[in-house]
Amino acid sequence: MDTAVSRLRTALDGPGLYLDSPADFAPYSTDWTRKFSGAPSLVARPRSTEQVAKLLAACDRHGLPVVPQCGNTGMVGGGVPRGGEVVINLSRMNRIESFDPIAGTVQVEAGVVLQTLNEAVAAEGFFMPVDLGARGSCQIGGMIATNAGGLRVLRYGHMRDQLRGLEVVLADGTVLSNLNKLKKNNTGLDLKHLFVGSEGILGIITRAVLQVVPKPPSLETALLALEERRTLPALLKNVRASFRGLSSLEFIVRDAIDLLREVDPGVREPFKEIYPVYVVVEEETGQGPVAREEFADRLDKLLSQGLVADAIVADSETRTRELWGYRERPTEAISRTGLTHKFDVTVPQGDIPRFCDEIEAMAKDYAGFRLFLYGHLGDGNVHVNMVQGRHLTKEAFYAAEKAIADRVYGEVAALGGSVSAEHGIGVMKRDYLGHSRSEAEIATMRRLKATLDPNGILNPGVMFAAK
Ligand code: FAD
Ligand code: MLT
Ligand code: ZN
Repeated sequence: MDTAVSRLRTALDGPGLYLDSPADFAPYSTDWTRKFSGAPSLVARPRSTEQVAKLLAACDRHGLPVVPQCGNTGMVGGGVPRGGEVVINLSRMNRIESFDPIAGTVQVEAGVVLQTLNEAVAAEGFFMPVDLGARGSCQIGGMIATNAGGLRVLRYGHMRDQLRGLEVVLADGTVLSNLNKLKKNNTGLDLKHLFVGSEGILGIITRAVLQVVPKPPSLETALLALEERRTLPALLKNVRASFRGLSSLEFIVRDAIDLLREVDPGVREPFKEIYPVYVVVEEETGQGPVAREEFADRLDKLLSQGLVADAIVADSETRTRELWGYRERPTEAISRTGLTHKFDVTVPQGDIPRFCDEIEAMAKDYAGFRLFLYGHLGDGNVHVNMVQGRHLTKEAFYAAEKAIADRVYGEVAALGGSVSAEHGIGVMKRDYLGHSRSEAEIATMRRLKATLDPNGILNPGVMFAAK
């Protein structure tokens, strides 16, 4: 392996194209959850598609396994080495190459950070429909490779739905470029979709064309308090019907708010009273006081129907950020509290209350763990976090992992749900892929992998065990 790595080094040119001192590897070696880590043999940081192609061709020739990486905010261990791989990190391919305000499209390199893209298109009166808490770090290539979802899926869909064109480098260095801008283009197989959600096992995404949408005149945001979570499905049905510009509907089970206040005493109690569950609602509306009044009227109706016990409407940018913080900040607070067995599942929306009840009952069987639940109500996507409590040893934390996963996925299966809603499979969930995909589907995935990457160099061990 070492000889192959030194041959690879000689094949590469250009200053700073790679890091090969273990002292520099740290940011590329451990994932965001701190549960997945491994030492790479080399970290390559290409600046162009040609360099990626050259790198992959050389790795393929020398049989060197490769881990593609963008912002390293993934949550399933798919973007960091298991040990000895070459990490190809795309962060330096970070140019926004062109913007077409008529078509509403933007062409970017894979290493563009989501927030940077959003700020650039905002200056032109547009916004990027996919938004998520990792916006300051996650990059377009990684978001496409995981088919990221986030906070506005119920209105705009996942990354797949924003994608017009894609450029990918295959394992042997072949550049598959189709930077299509057209909305309508039914010419043969639409290959780009193979790479969406492929988690780096089929090719390295180098550039993309995304559609962006005109910014709405105004966005109204409110935090709602519910007396009981049994009414979440009725609330969803009602809000969908009456908030025509609905762009986000997110829920938070109370314990997550307690955690926020524990981690940061500066976090205010949102309401006078304490409620078991909260919902953030965001709607795209017209501008001005009338639009805000109409939004408030719609909220009043929810109150008078008894679906909501109390509501706060954001009346400034600061207040909007504060209200969104109750939903977005638990992820970071959890990570500061301890290691976490994270689950990202979908169940039918109507079953969310029952699912949460079952998971809370399950969690009681695991002393030393703390449970935090929140998620994307509109999508039926629940994030289950089983967090290492202060007195739980690392050994005890890991020892319970399989039993907890079997219980969570058992509940998901009973409700006809999915073991991954938006984070992907990575290495963390590969033993559970069969819960949500048939044998025939997995066999077809493996055949595609063998066709596009016959030497199995791309992200071996991700999605399914390497053969
Ligand atoms: P990375 O972590 O670098 O990589 C992720 C996967 O894609 C790996 O398997 C990697 O090998 C592969 N990959 C990376 N780059 C490429 C490439 N150029 N070509 C081919 N394969 C590649 N996710 C959601 O879907 N919704 C959320 O709401 C959400 N919220 C989050 C909030 C926080 C605070 C954090 C930390 C994460 C959140 N995530 C969420 C998870 C994560 O941010 C997303 O999955 C994101 O899309 C990953 O992008 P990245 O650039 O960090 O990818
Ligand atoms: C979220 O919706 O907050 C993210 O998917 C991250 C998480 O699961 O904590
Ligand atoms: Zn999420």
